[in-house]
Amino acid sequence: MTQIAEILETMAYGPAPESTSAARDWLARGPFGLFIGGSFTAPGTLFDVRDPARDVVLAQVTQAGAADVDAAVQAARAAHPAWEADAALRARVLYALARQIQKRERLFAVLESLDNGKPIRESRDIDLPLVSRHFTHHAGWATLLADEFPNARAHGVCGQIIPWNFPLLMLAWKVAPALAAGNTVVLKPAEDTPLTALLFAEICLEAGVPPGVVNIITGDGATGAALVAHDGVDKIAFTGSTEVGQIIRRATAGKGRALTLELGGKSPFIVMGDADLDAAVEGVVDAVWFNQGEVCCAGTRILVAESVAEMFRKRLISRMKTLRVGDPLDKSTDIGAIVNTAQLARIRDLVAQGVAAGAVAHEGTAPEGCFCPPILLDQVSPANPCASEEIFGPVVTLQTFRTPPEAIELANATRYGLAASIWSENLTVAMDMAAQVKAGVVWINATNMFDANAPFGGMRASGFGREGAREGMAAYLRKNDAAQGAAPGTIDPLPGTGAPEGLDRTHKLYIGGAQKRADGGASWSVLRDDTRLGHAPLGNRKDIRNAVEAAHKASGWTRMSGHQRAQVLYFLAETLDHHRDGLAALVPMAEIDASIARTLYYAAWADKLSGAVHNTQSAHVTLAMREAFGVMGLICAEEAPLLGALSLILPAIAMGNRVVVVPSQANPLAALELGPMLGASDVPGGVVNIVSGPVAELAKTLAGHDDVAALACAQPSVAQLIEAESAGNLKPVWHAPTGQGRDWLEAMVQIKTIWVPYGA
Ligand code: NAI
Repeated sequence: MTQIAEILETMAYGPAPESTSAARDWLARGPFGLFIGGSFTAPGTLFDVRDPARDVVLAQVTQAGAADVDAAVQAARAAHPAWEADAALRARVLYALARQIQKRERLFAVLESLDNGKPIRESRDIDLPLVSRHFTHHAGWATLLADEFPNARAHGVCGQIIPWNFPLLMLAWKVAPALAAGNTVVLKPAEDTPLTALLFAEICLEAGVPPGVVNIITGDGATGAALVAHDGVDKIAFTGSTEVGQIIRRATAGKGRALTLELGGKSPFIVMGDADLDAAVEGVVDAVWFNQGEVCCAGTRILVAESVAEMFRKRLISRMKTLRVGDPLDKSTDIGAIVNTAQLARIRDLVAQGVAAGAVAHEGTAPEGCFCPPILLDQVSPANPCASEEIFGPVVTLQTFRTPPEAIELANATRYGLAASIWSENLTVAMDMAAQVKAGVVWINATNMFDANAPFGGMRASGFGREGAREGMAAYLRKNDAAQGAAPGTIDPLPGTGAPEGLDRTHKLYIGGAQKRADGGASWSVLRDDTRLGHAPLGNRKDIRNAVEAAHKASGWTRMSGHQRAQVLYFLAETLDHHRDGLAALVPMAEIDASIARTLYYAAWADKLSGAVHNTQSAHVTLAMREAFGVMGLICAEEAPLLGALSLILPAIAMGNRVVVVPSQANPLAALELGPMLGASDVPGGVVNIVSGPVAELAKTLAGHDDVAALACAQPSVAQLIEAESAGNLKPVWHAPTGQGRDWLEAMVQIKTIWVPYGA
């Protein structure tokens, strides 16, 4: 007789399929039109939406054309004033959306799994609860907005473009904060997965969303491009590939449109020698075998300490072999279908390239069809394409390291900077690594944790802007309009009429803490009312590159405490005061007074802009640290040449950035005079570098430089140029208003969200 123990030993999973009948009833309403102005249009040109697991057509939806995009934007525009004016209505409607979604949770989850191929367990237990959490959380922000963001206004109409990996969750991440802030939206879901967005449109009707506040237009990249190009859109929020993010950055350049980009990643998963290895193995399952690995922040690069690599590898491979790949609607499935056959081919192709480059592949099993087994690529050299390319499938690479600095070097050897996961039982080590890793989100002894009250977003080629929490709300609000001002004229090397009084003074560039002749050896006459104030050195691209290099080296400034930076800024105020009379030959005394006051203002702030601890749903303290970008480019206003330069330099360096400054072209002399004063005030060499010359050419070089992490610009005439150039390494560009304040400081830092276990 068979023993029970034997049965338990050999028992395979029995299938536990979820019913699809409610979803199929809903799908029978198709073919689907677009949701514009509170109702569905008649279906237009149709395309098929497929179930990747069964390879059948689920529905037909409309490909929105330019006229449809226009109609949706017009509807959103018309609905905006009344919507922004009524915060109580917004709170009520957002709460109603959360409740209505909860009541239809099963229908949404099944539809999502049918459309995307993700396991029902994940859509039901992860995606849907987070979706309703987002709407509830943001209903609260609508209520608190006037208190918490007193001077802010909504952007107006937001164009939102989302990918196929978390169709409804990405919709919630985009729509909830936009609506809470008083914007109206035109949302384009991914062409592979538009169905839950269409079901959401019906929920909008039920929840009392006023017509035009939410518009949903289906279609492919052409529809997305038309939305990006539409002049009636005030803000674009995009999640998707880095390549399309770059296209959107270039397409919106100079249009005065707010932009946030959540792009790709190649996130490290660091296992230290003292990590709890079993927990870390489960961590990999959640990092890269969750959602088929189609996760922008997936921990796809395991970096494991050599001392434990062998044991970790063995346990991981044996765990990988237990993962069940198959029917997404089966509740015992771990990994569902890949979203489409093109994506599967892309994954397979990259894995083949990785193996050809020397990696050893360990694979689990998967059924025939649009499925991919879990794959571990071992012995991956840094040059292997699988170590650097985003694969977006259930594929993880494994590399080893010997020391923590080597782990950090490997972790940061990527163009991306979205997330990182660090596993160590020693919190001192883990936090030290968290500080050094280049990532917008860091999980300690955890991975893929999300919450509506935790900022999420990347650095470097992973994009800019944050979603979630207070920081995410700020991205849907505008507080100060960018400065308007004169454009620089042309530079005329000769002649300068009228000799200045006294001895001629020679101004030089200020690079690396020293006065430097311009590379080209040329200068031009700086005139005021036909009187020559002096000669300014004519900097060029080479000077900018030298300045960036000097700024790059001055990293000690970023590591200094706020208190130390405050001391230096107070000292600078003293020095400025001491040099009043000299500066008075170049700028009015009132500007000098204002400059000294501004220096004292940012000295006061240097040790006070704190981060936050966010209250999330799990047993973590979720820190939102404010980190300097590193090297920033500053393009100053033409007017008030001393105050204008200091208005950007001071908040940037107060927050720990090193800067390359392009001063006013009309009168760069006062800014150049600052150079030696900075040195005399203990600002270390390389922290502030000043290169005068033709603003457009210098700004373009700064914007295109890969070692410049962010730009602040008070010169509207170069906005288009620098936004387009900045697409290369996706540096954020902040258009600075005139004035001073906390907003200036906030623009000079990026948020790093760190999840630290607490009370678990
Ligand atoms: P994608 O970036 O092309 O698509 C994302 C969204 O952008 C879709 O709604 C698409 O219709 C739209 N879009 C495409 N071209 C556009 C344009 N020129 N202007 C405006 N909108 C446009 O991503 P795709 O092709 O679906 O996936 C390709 C790769 O991108 C994946 O293999 C993965 O590596 C990466 N990806 C990253 C995601 C992330 O969350 N970071 C999400 C999806 C894909």
